[in-house]
Parts: sequence; structure tokens; C-alpha cells
Amino acid sequence: MCGIVCYLGSERKTAYLIDKLKRLEYRGYDSAGYSSLIKNAFYTQKVVGKLENLEKLIKNDEKSTCLISHTRWATHGECNKINAHPHLSKNNFWAVVHNGIIENYINIKKELKDEPQSTTDTAVVAEFLEERNPKSLEEFVDVFKEIKGSYALVALSKNEENTMYFAKNKSPMFIGVSGEDFMIASDPICFSGFAKEYIIVEDGEFGIIKNKKILILNSEKIQIKKQIQKLEIEFENSSKAGYPHFMLKEIMEEAGALENQVNTFLSRKILKPFSKSFIDEFDRIVFVGCGTAYHAGLMGTHYVKEILQKNADAYISSEFLCEKDTFLDKKALYIFISQSGETADTLLALEKVKKLKIPTIALTNVMYSTISRRADYVLPTCAGKEIAVASTKAYICQLSAIYMFCKNAKYEYFDEKNACYFEINNISKKINNFDREKIKNLANLISTKQECVFIGKALDYVTSLECSLKLKEVSYINSCAYPSGELKHGYLAMITKETPLFAFATNEKFNLKTISSAEEALARGAMVFVITSSKEFANSNQNVIYIDEQNSLLSPLLASSVMQYLAYNVSINKNLNPDMPRNLAKSVTVE
Ligand code: G6P
Repeated sequence: MCGIVCYLGSERKTAYLIDKLKRLEYRGYDSAGYSSLIKNAFYTQKVVGKLENLEKLIKNDEKSTCLISHTRWATHGECNKINAHPHLSKNNFWAVVHNGIIENYINIKKELKDEPQSTTDTAVVAEFLEERNPKSLEEFVDVFKEIKGSYALVALSKNEENTMYFAKNKSPMFIGVSGEDFMIASDPICFSGFAKEYIIVEDGEFGIIKNKKILILNSEKIQIKKQIQKLEIEFENSSKAGYPHFMLKEIMEEAGALENQVNTFLSRKILKPFSKSFIDEFDRIVFVGCGTAYHAGLMGTHYVKEILQKNADAYISSEFLCEKDTFLDKKALYIFISQSGETADTLLALEKVKKLKIPTIALTNVMYSTISRRADYVLPTCAGKEIAVASTKAYICQLSAIYMFCKNAKYEYFDEKNACYFEINNISKKINNFDREKIKNLANLISTKQECVFIGKALDYVTSLECSLKLKEVSYINSCAYPSGELKHGYLAMITKETPLFAFATNEKFNLKTISSAEEALARGAMVFVITSSKEFANSNQNVIYIDEQNSLLSPLLASSVMQYLAYNVSINKNLNPDMPRNLAKSVTVE
């Protein structure tokens, strides 16, 4: 999703600043651009596609003291050069970059004398600024009284050299401070190597950087004193380490990520606050998340019910937002799951619960993210940076973290005495260990198909949902997931001899039932593949993938990992880029 990097300070190479923008590539984008303010005129470049295209336009000796730059993930208006940011007002008085959505842009547009050339919501703000032409931060705040929606927005006025205005609501914004040099960005990861300190801009704050100082006001125009944060984030080298794609690298990092998860939980006694007596205070545990994170929550409900014998539910964040506040359970503990910690729907769901003063936990992979900061407690996943859009190692870590969370709350051992650490370590030894040739052959077969179906019961149904999502995300093969028992209540009508059906049977209690459902599909010509932990089926047929784990709560980690590898290979066979699936973004910061 959109990313911004803006700079005001001493002269820097433009290429150096665009290099910082590259650190936001993980968010997903389809066009990019920048504007430098030089002697009261904007010098602007925009491209469709990758930042490399933008870099080609930068001259070797090009420098800037004042620059705004942006990667855009199209929401309002198609992806083209005109719609790429920065947006300049008609007479080139103002230039704007923005992450978020201006909800009332149509109403504002109606008020404008000149209609912007671009159809985006942001272009309307550039034009609106030109017409209102604020000359101070106070006047800038007044302009924003009329603007509704989510925004991390930075604006330059051509008549105010060495001045940068900014506004923030809901979308993330940080300011790196290095002496008299300032950088505004969507993620403080951009500041690594530039600054040792940074400021977190909060919702409803408006600011100006001028005369080498930052001034921040709230919407009442009262000055806000900001705390300086120490930058403790190192920009991890996001090289592919010899792998052709990040997705493959990240799948292969799952063993290490799980070890890291266990070591961090143990060495920092992360789970100590979530003791049995803490959990006993709640009647129910509710998980909330989007996409893969939602699936981790669904799996979590099974862990909670099985291990803690407590009631549990999982919600898709955007659906949770539809619930009336009166139905929120004040006796429940709410856990918000998000790899990025920035997903707008999940953040809004968190705010909804916070308003009622109900305790919240963030399960995130980014400790400085907004969701981590806003929740009462943070439960970290220790997957390391995940770049590929489709989540792989973060999902595996989410499951392991929830599993250990439940086991600790049950047995109150926060050290090695709790068997869960051993169990997860054991999984880490098995996870990247599967017959890759077999899966690649299977991928060859699947690559030619139009659709796929995944079935399973209970936890295996959750695995079906996640594997189906993974395949869709990176291969564009239409697929769906069905509870095994439900197959005959509808989907069976779709089965032909062209349909691959994957049956997950990793729980002794239900295996035979799932196999029976698979048989029903087989009898109607489907190509059936069974992913099972049952030794009985292990070598019975070449269409069986054996999962070497008898703990049915943990076998989903192994099954999911194998299927991630399958999805990756299908994507490669189809000549697609699994790291950046069409239309998708890694960090979805708009509702
Ligand atoms: C996007 C990504 C998904 C991800 C979801 C939730 O839709 O494409 O891969 O699962 O967001 O992201 P989060 O960062 O909140 O886990």
C-alpha cells in the first residue's frame, strides 16, 4: 500500500532518498514519483511500475534539500502516470503526497473552481490547498477541518522554500530527526542509517518543519510536545540471499523463525503477564484479523478450546466492525493479529474494543507498529522481516505463538519446564523437511488447472482455508475451502475429472470422515490428494503427502508450510511473480 518518504535538510543526493523509499517496497505499489522544490518551482518525475524506472530518470548529480516521494497502490483512479503521486495543483503552487483515503473528496471537488486532471482523491487536496492557500500551520489546520478520511499527508508550497507541512489521521507517519535534517516516512525503517531518533506522529496531529524545527499542533491548534524515540530498528538486509524470490526464502526461513520464536519467548519471559490467573478473568477469547492473520485467529480458537477449555471466536476485522457495540463481550479477552501491525480494518477493530475499556492484546510481527502501540499488551511474533505479499513464515509464527500462549496459561511454567517450547522446537526441526521433488511434480499438474478445492475438518478446515488463500494469492487459480462434511451439500456439483481436491487429514479423530468425503469426490472423477499424519496412509499411494507430526494441534504448521511451497511452485510454473501478486498489497492501510 502507499508509502511516503519526504526529506527536508541539507543537500542530499535524490538517489539516496529514493533508496529510502525502496525500503517501503514490501508494502506493495504500482507507480511511484517524487517532487523536489528548487528555487520556488517543483521538479517532478513519475513512473508506472517499479522504483527502478524512477531511478533511471534521476541524473547522477541530482541533489535535493526538499523532496517528497511516494509509492502508490491504486485505490481511487486507475494506475497511470497522471494518478501517481506527488499531485501538483493546477498552477503548480502545491505538491502533495498521501497515504490513505480522502472520504469526502467528491464533495470537496464540487467546491473547487478548477477540476484536477487526475481522478484521485489526493489530487483534490492539492487543488483545495491551492484555492485556500494556507500561509501558516494554523491555516493549514483549518483546511483540514474540511477534509475527512484517513491520511498521512505531506504538502509543499512553492512559495515557502525549506518548509514542509504534514497531517496525520489513521495512516502511519513518523519523523526521523538527524540534527537539522528531517525525514518523514510511513515506516521508521527508512530512518536506519539516517537518524538515531524519531518522533511518532499521532492521529489528529498537524505539523510544519521550518527553520530547522518541528512544530506540531492538534486540531484545536494547541501545541503538542512530542517525545523523542530512540531508533532501535536496524534495516535488515532484504536481499533474497541467493533465492530467486522472497516467498521461497521466507518459507525456507520457517525453521529459524520458530527457533527464534521459542528463544525470544523463553529468554524474555514474554508470556509471564498471560498467566493462568490473568486468563481466568475472561470467559472467552476473541481473535480478530484479516486474510492470513484471520486464519491464525481461527486456528487459535481451536487451541483455546482444546488447551484452555475456554470458549473462543474469531472475526474478520471488517466484519467485526459491522457488529453493534452492545454485542461486544466485556468479559472477553480480545487478541488482534496482524503481521504488519498496520492493517486499517484490524486497527479500527482494536479501537472499537479499546473504547469500551476491554483489555486488548496485539499479536504482531512489527513491535513499533500502530497496532502494537495501541494495544494494552503485545505478544510478538519473531518471524523477522516478511517481504513477499503472501504471508508464510509470519503465519507459522502466529500459530506457534498462540499455541505457546495457551500452554503457558494452562501450566504456568514460563521456562523450559513447559513442554510447549520443546514441542515447537521439534516442529522447527521438521518444518523445512519435505520431499520437494514430489511437491514440484504436483505443482506441475496443478498449474494447468482452472480451479482447486481444499477440504478438512476442524483445524484441518482452517488449514484448507489458508492453503486455498495462498494458492489464489500467488497463482490466480480459483480455489475454495470446504469443511469435509459440507462437500456433499453443494460443492460436489462442481467436481469434474479436472478438479484437484486436497484433503487434509491430520487429526486421528476425524481422518476417516475426511477420507470418506474425499472418496465421494474421487467417485465423481476428482483428482484427490491427501495430506495426512496418519501412518496408515503414509505410503499407500503416490497422491499422499505424509506429515510427520502426531500432535494434531501442531500438524497444521507442517501441512501449511508444504502447501505454501506448492503454491509458490505453481506461481513459478505460471511465470508469475509470487512476491508481488497482482492487485494485492502487503500492508493494507486503508479500510
Ligand atoms: C493483506 C495481505 C495478506 C495479509 C493481510 C493481513 O491482505 O495481502 O497477505 O494476510 O493483508 O495483513 P496483516 O499485516 O494485518 O497480517
